[in-house]
Amino acid sequence: MNAHTDTGPALWSAQAHMPSVLGRQLIIDRGEGNYVFTTDGQRLFDGTAGLWHTNIGHGRAEMAEVAAEQMRKLETYHVFGRYLNDRAVELAERIASISPIADPKIILNSGGSDSIDVALKLARRYWQLRGRHEKTMILSRDLAYHGLHAYGTSVAGLDFNREGYGTESLVPETARFDTYDIEKVRKTMAEIGPHRIAALIAEPIQGTGGVIPPTPGYLEGLQQIADEHDILLILDEVITGFGRTGHWFAAERYGLRPHIVTMAKGISSGYSAVGGIIVAPEVWSPFYETGAPMYRHGTTYSGHATSAALALKNLEIIEREGLLGRVQQLEGVLSTELGALAADDRIEETRVAGLLGGIQLRPEFSAEQVTDAMVEQGWIARPLRGNVIQISPPFTTTDEELRGIVAAAVTALDTVGAATPAPELAVTR
Ligand SMILES: Cc1ncc(COP(=O)(O)O)c(C=O)c1O
Repeated sequence: MNAHTDTGPALWSAQAHMPSVLGRQLIIDRGEGNYVFTTDGQRLFDGTAGLWHTNIGHGRAEMAEVAAEQMRKLETYHVFGRYLNDRAVELAERIASISPIADPKIILNSGGSDSIDVALKLARRYWQLRGRHEKTMILSRDLAYHGLHAYGTSVAGLDFNREGYGTESLVPETARFDTYDIEKVRKTMAEIGPHRIAALIAEPIQGTGGVIPPTPGYLEGLQQIADEHDILLILDEVITGFGRTGHWFAAERYGLRPHIVTMAKGISSGYSAVGGIIVAPEVWSPFYETGAPMYRHGTTYSGHATSAALALKNLEIIEREGLLGRVQQLEGVLSTELGALAADDRIEETRVAGLLGGIQLRPEFSAEQVTDAMVEQGWIARPLRGNVIQISPPFTTTDEELRGIVAAAVTALDTVGAATPAPELAVTR
């Protein structure tokens, strides 16, 4: 590592405004339970579960043993053509058994942005195969985050992630719709023409946009629009999947019947790079019929055997330790703690759904400065778009730790005070 030049280490950080982070980067070299440790010895409570993914906590020896055992037997073998590996097959069966879609097929890959790419390609390919050649538009919500590969960038509802490439959309034929008001969504649909729309993609609870739970009836409205107009409903459950809302999937919590679900993060709690999609029979069956064309998609690490073995063990741990029920309890604690902040006039609003919490500060205060101050005190929280502080710790968090991080946010607000000049997020994700 070239750590002492003006431009810092050779590693180019992700989603970082480099001039703002140079000289103040935190290097993490150890994790244990709900805590991580920096190279200079600071112990930090992981109040965001990394990027909303470390659901079973850090540093579990059981996971390390699974990886070693699997690698000694077979590190991986690809799943192209007539080849498969036993672990990928097993993981797909396991996901199918907890899926919100009956009788699904599962495509596996390496992460959330990958899963968005394959889902949106498949939506377009499906309608071409069905002879509905005009169905090419992909619509997404304002403030949406769907990763940063070419498709995710194109359907970003956070405009700063889509801008600066010299084109409105890297992938042609995308558009945004309102994030709160279903009547406005219907209006946008009517303007574009439902016959041109291949798919709607939505995070059930928007994460990076600022922890935004759905308004009552909104997701049900999307389901109705999709059903009425022959449009595929794709739920991006990259954050919400595998327990973050107290159910295996948010589709269950909100009673939805998606055609495709995208997943990553909590499938392995970050112990391996896994993502993928769950596909309904309506969409996969035309590719399984005699005379059907192949769906041309796959990567070297689709269904990576060691990654799959780790995901399987992670799902076993979530079940064995009753972590879905635990998330439901923690949601109650978080609601009480954030609800108590309603009287604080420095806070605009607080929002909770599952073990996802957001504290939206009034514009005079800076979520970025407050979360920096929290780190000084040993608590990791993250600034999100909309001047929001993200709280989404591992499912193994104690009630005391959850109360502690909310209290730390208030203490940091006291310490930092009003921001001057008005806050501008340097790091947004
Ligand atoms: C809702 C959602 N979709 C997709 C992604 C992209 O996932 P990844 O970062 O694994 O590519 C993210 C990542 O934060 C996400 O929050």
